[in-house]
Amino acid sequence: MEWRWRTFPLLFILIEGALSRHWAAWMPTSISAFKDTCVAIPCSFNYPEDIRPSAIHGIWYFNSPYPKNFPPVVFKSKTNTAHEIYMGRTKMIGDLQESNCSIQIDRVSSELQGKYYFRADLGGYNQYTYSEHANLYILDEPFVVQPQEIISGSETEITCLVDDNCPDMKPRVTWMDIEGLEHHMVYARLEENNLSWKQISTLKFLPTHKNNGQRLGCRVTYPGTELQYKGFVTMDVKYAPRIIDINSSTETTEGTQVVFICVVDSNPPSRVMWLKDDILLKEDYTSNLTLELEYVTYNHDGLYLCAAENDYGRTNKSMGLAVMYAPWKPSVNASLVAVEGETVTIFCNTQGNPDPILSIIKDKQILNSAVFENELVLEIPLVTHEHDGEYWCLAENQYGHSNSSFNLTVVFSPIVLSESKCTLTKDNVQCMCTVKSNPDPYIMFEIPEKNFTVSELNTEFVHSQRNGYMVSSILTLQKESELPKVVLCSASNLYGKKVHELLFQDSDSLLWAKIGPVGAVVVFVILVAVGGYMIKTREKKTMTESSSFIQTETSPSYSGDASKKHLGKIESGEISSLEVK
Ligand SMILES: *[C@@H]1O[C@H](CO)[C@@H](O)[C@H](O)[C@H]1NC(C)=O
Ligand SMILES: *[C@@H]1O[C@H](CO)[C@@H](O)[C@H](O)[C@H]1NC(C)=O
Ligand SMILES: *[C@@H]1O[C@H](CO)[C@@H](O)[C@H](O)[C@H]1NC(C)=O
Ligand SMILES: *[C@@H]1O[C@H](CO)[C@@H](O)[C@H](O)[C@H]1NC(C)=O
Ligand SMILES: *[C@@H]1O[C@H](CO)[C@@H](O)[C@H](O)[C@H]1NC(C)=O
Ligand SMILES: *[C@@H]1O[C@H](CO)[C@@H](O)[C@H](O)[C@H]1NC(C)=O
Ligand SMILES: *[C@@H]1O[C@H](CO)[C@@H](O)[C@H](O)[C@H]1NC(C)=O
Ligand SMILES: *[C@@H]1O[C@H](CO)[C@@H](O)[C@H](O)[C@H]1NC(C)=O
Ligand SMILES: *[C@@H]1O[C@H](CO)[C@@H](O)[C@H](O)[C@H]1NC(C)=O
Repeated sequence: MEWRWRTFPLLFILIEGALSRHWAAWMPTSISAFKDTCVAIPCSFNYPEDIRPSAIHGIWYFNSPYPKNFPPVVFKSKTNTAHEIYMGRTKMIGDLQESNCSIQIDRVSSELQGKYYFRADLGGYNQYTYSEHANLYILDEPFVVQPQEIISGSETEITCLVDDNCPDMKPRVTWMDIEGLEHHMVYARLEENNLSWKQISTLKFLPTHKNNGQRLGCRVTYPGTELQYKGFVTMDVKYAPRIIDINSSTETTEGTQVVFICVVDSNPPSRVMWLKDDILLKEDYTSNLTLELEYVTYNHDGLYLCAAENDYGRTNKSMGLAVMYAPWKPSVNASLVAVEGETVTIFCNTQGNPDPILSIIKDKQILNSAVFENELVLEIPLVTHEHDGEYWCLAENQYGHSNSSFNLTVVFSPIVLSESKCTLTKDNVQCMCTVKSNPDPYIMFEIPEKNFTVSELNTEFVHSQRNGYMVSSILTLQKESELPKVVLCSASNLYGKKVHELLFQDSDSLLWAKIGPVGAVVVFVILVAVGGYMIKTREKKTMTESSSFIQTETSPSYSGDASKKHLGKIESGEISSLEVK
């Protein structure tokens, strides 16, 4: 204990070294003690050197320096008395003869809080109350002092201040609830301040976000007593945001509603933001920011970032949203016109998630396909009329399918189909020329030996029927005795010209073909029935007449050629020819 007072001799050396002594006292301006403990107020005094007291006495007053106010006497050395409130609690511990006015007060209570004045009584009129006085404070708990700001990760000190001014009672300072603190250490020291002593216990540690809101306690006990005093602080640990929950990457389909949540822990609250492609979608000062997508479209596909920032730092986390959707209607070439022989490239592209299976189809045949692609190309190196038609581009994934169609129009020089021919009917000759062509052909018939040329413009002879790219032109000639040897059909358009010789069709097979097997039976029955009649009448006719055509004025006429097989039989009498069979 002695060492605590070692500043006093120094002080006195200084004072005694002073040239002239005068009325002066030294004591702490303020001194504190826990309720029910004791306090010793260190004190020393001086008086003018010309006074030579035979005995030195002293009185401590409470709250007033003036005796005439009858302040409570804390202790009076001359009579060893005190006001009843101090009775038995106070004693002079200093030797007044040594100018040591230190006083000890035991079992302090809050009503003893106040100003303490010392009055020296050197005998006679040499009584003096020093204006220097000590303010006594009675405390219930220690002061726990925390820094203005506790920042996560930076070393922090929290101190507990315990007044230690009683030689009989030594406080013991411990910390409570510090087990979870990182790197914690406790240092203790004594500090004197204007003659008053304090034990200062320093708790050093590295705070983390976990310590925010944590209550720490400083406990003061006095060994050998039941006395215990506790002071607490609740830490406000500042820390940068941490994203503690965010959705993991998600897959969804178009049209759904999606809600993301970003839960942020920080102190103070952070500015929390949802961003996509660096575009701010939503922000708030919150711990829990949701992002609602009411109706998800493919546009929502992408990476979403939750970012949070406060004065102590920033962080971010991202997650992906994959929007699955059926392929869009493919975009294909607008309908095309291609010239035979050209190379045609057909493009089909679409978009879907996942990438679709694409195929280009014509007449239910798959011409090209691609799996998990957005684009498909079909190249037709040498386009022919066969390639003309409607093409479909089909796109499909597990979320749906779509298609587009377009028409490829191929322009080509006329093709005279092999079915083109001449046939004889009862009254006339019909030559049919069937041409496939795009654009429409110009069709002409020619009978070279007659120097006869007629086009479809001449509706008297020629009748045309169109069906798509097929044109059937029929040249009708009245029967004449002589059949033309050669009938030519020529068809031409912008892209070319074809000349085709039309052959005469075998009429028997033609008839049978026309009426069919059932019809043939019916006809045969009829023929059998009328057969008898015919045989009789035939005798009246001459067989030679049969091969002559009936000639009309308007139609070009010619003589039938008897040499043409079967012709005679049909034309002379169609029924008789059947009879022969
Ligand atoms: C005054 O008295 C106290 C109590 O005995 C003692 O501890 C202290 O050292 C004294 N002061 C001086 C200056 O001698
Ligand atoms: C000590 O006391 C003096 C007055 O007596 C005062 O001015 C000074 O501020 C005090 N020092 C401290 C550290 O309290
Ligand atoms: C995101 O997480 C929240 C909370 O866990 C949940 O309610 C929500 O459905 C999740 N969103 C998606 C799209 O998974
Ligand atoms: C987010 O905040 C809302 C409302 O403030 C609350 O109902 C919800 O429980 C919070 N969710 C989380 C994960 O903190
Ligand atoms: C997200 O955090 C990274 C580092 O963690 C940083 O480089 C980036 O700039 C941040 N992004 C945003 C949008 O804050
Ligand atoms: C089809 O379209 C694509 C792009 O739209 C184009 O590059 C291509 O030339 C087109 N094909 C034809 C034959 O026009
Ligand atoms: C094209 O799509 C329509 C409408 O979905 C559908 O009715 C049609 O069958 C599809 N065509 C083909 C060739 O798949
Ligand atoms: C293709 O032609 C057909 C008829 O030949 C027509 O019905 C269809 O609409 C055409 N398609 C396009 C895409 O022009
Ligand atoms: C056919 O007629 C043309 C004129 O129409 C004429 O120039 C040509 O000489 C004629 N040929 C014959 C073989 O009659």
